[in-house]
Amino acid sequence: MATHPHPPGSDSPAKFSDDAWVEVLSAMDRTYADLVSYQEQLERQNAELQEMRTFLTAILSSVSDVLIVADRGARVARVSRSVEALTGAGEAALGGRPLVGLFAEAAREAVEATLARVRDSRKGAQVEAELLAAGGVEPLDLWVAPRLDDRGRVDGFVLTGRPLGALRKAYAELSESHDALKTAQAQLVRNEKLASLGRLLAGVAHELNNPISFVYANAHALERYAGKFETYFARVQEGASREELIALRQELRLDREVANLRTAIEGAREGAERVRDIVEDLRRLSSDGSGVAVVFDLAQTARTAAEWVMRGMKQPVVLTIETEPVQVLGRPGHVQQVVMNLVQNAVDALEGQAGAAIRLTVRPDGDRAVLTVSDNGPGVPEALRPAIFDPFFTTKPVGRGTGLGLSISHKISEEHGGTLTLCDAGPGACFRLYLPRAEGGA
Ligand SMILES: Nc1ncnc2c1ncn2[C@@H]1O[C@H](COP(=O)(O)OP(=O)(O)OP(=O)(O)O)[C@@H](O)[C@H]1O
Ligand SMILES: [Mg+2]
Repeated sequence: MATHPHPPGSDSPAKFSDDAWVEVLSAMDRTYADLVSYQEQLERQNAELQEMRTFLTAILSSVSDVLIVADRGARVARVSRSVEALTGAGEAALGGRPLVGLFAEAAREAVEATLARVRDSRKGAQVEAELLAAGGVEPLDLWVAPRLDDRGRVDGFVLTGRPLGALRKAYAELSESHDALKTAQAQLVRNEKLASLGRLLAGVAHELNNPISFVYANAHALERYAGKFETYFARVQEGASREELIALRQELRLDREVANLRTAIEGAREGAERVRDIVEDLRRLSSDGSGVAVVFDLAQTARTAAEWVMRGMKQPVVLTIETEPVQVLGRPGHVQQVVMNLVQNAVDALEGQAGAAIRLTVRPDGDRAVLTVSDNGPGVPEALRPAIFDPFFTTKPVGRGTGLGLSISHKISEEHGGTLTLCDAGPGACFRLYLPRAEGGA
């Protein structure tokens, strides 16, 4: 400021020159200007500070995650609105309290250890700790970061975190619905297996019933004949007279029974052979599952498959089969399943329809074998055509169809290097299966 030895207002104004006054006035001007600019600077800084404070407050009140700022001594400095909501205490009440005090007794050691680690390493660390919340404890997944000053020293901590309860709940809900989906899917597959097993068993039971009752009736007759012969031979043994034996033979009608004996034995054998064939069929149906590819007659396999489905069926449907032998290479069990699915679908589509008819054809076509299954049912609506081969696509009521039949059949046809398509022939539905022919029956 003024450096003059005689400041204005001293008792020697007379000695004060004009120049000196000018200098004083300009010094005052400068000082005033300095003050004004200083004040402006202060106001600017104040505005900036105010803005910063608003900004910080906005952040602290808007973050949904937990945010706690602590000083160098690990005392609470600021907390987010979410912390206030969780703890039920305002920032004013929390401020200045030791940070570890916010957490449940059991978690304090871990929090303290983490703070020490962050202080020493000057790197962030993660810790799980239970916050003392208004309604009990709230487990948090916390990230503890150091606050560094200009010289890189730890000046405090910033804790951010998210309630684990919410995370766990979301995860539990997710895995719960995932589990439910898996269970439902498994149930569907099981239903499908049970349904086809049921159809098969109905066919088996029906088919076995005939020959077995045949065997049973014949065995019964054989037992009766055996009784008669025993009576006769007992008399022979006892030395009965010739006349008596002739009379006994007539009485027991032994001559006729000898002929019947043959018929009964043949009948029983036929029945047993029929049972053996059925069992053979069943073995073929179940065993070729993942077996090696063999050359087989598609016509024969298709016939067997179609007949199996028709056996288990209760409604009246006329099945026409027109086949020519054609050798293909593959797994007969799988191909049989395709035909069974196609015929079963046709049967289902024809339910309750008068004059229901299914036509199965197999014939060679160049280097391919072609099989068609057509019916005079309602057909597949245009809008559904792209979807019917999708897994689980079904128009049948729950428990009736799983929608796996066509998708499995499609997969099997592809595995055989063939195709399965819906053909355009109307008015009902028509499916066509192409399979490559086996070369020279090799
Ligand atoms: N011959 C057909 N006539 C009319 N619609 C058919 C015929 N075949 C299949 N569809 C339609 O295609 C859908 C899918 O058939 P797919 O065989 O894949 O499953 P599904 O028969 O419904 O059930 P699943 O075969 O598992 O018992 C059927 O629900 C049906 O709507
Ligand atoms: Mg089906």
